[in-house]
Amino acid sequence: GAPVEVDISKIELEPGMRMIVQWRGQPVWIFKRTPEQLAALPTLDDQLRDPDSDNADQTPAFAKNPARSIKPEVAVIVGICTHLGCSPSYVPELQPQPFDSEWQGGFYCPCHNSRFDLAGRVYQGVPAPSNLKVPPYYFIDDNRVMVG
Ligand code: FES
Repeated sequence: GAPVEVDISKIELEPGMRMIVQWRGQPVWIFKRTPEQLAALPTLDDQLRDPDSDNADQTPAFAKNPARSIKPEVAVIVGICTHLGCSPSYVPELQPQPFDSEWQGGFYCPCHNSRFDLAGRVYQGVPAPSNLKVPPYYFIDDNRVMVG
């Protein structure tokens, strides 16, 4: 599949706002995270299966950092559950989480209740074996991302 150029200038920092583009037949999510959301990520590490993203299949070297991204505020993640391939829902934090009051929000896969944080890192104790995949991408300039 060809690389896909995406204009990200319309993405706001509002909870729940996310662009979804198709790359190689897969949905790729692009969304922003607030400084508060970014600061909260390391506090979740001991609840996660692979907090440092050591699984290189899911995380290219350029994204092996706490936010799993090139620019911390801009997330670019393949929106396919690493369990059996359902598409998880975006659940911005601070909403009621009836299925798990401890969960801070992030991404929730309704097929078998896997949960991920806002960097796409999988929680312990859920069926999904690994973090959501970060695709290859780079910034053409401040407002344009090339995925692939
Ligand atoms: Fe997502 Fe099973 S496909 S939890």
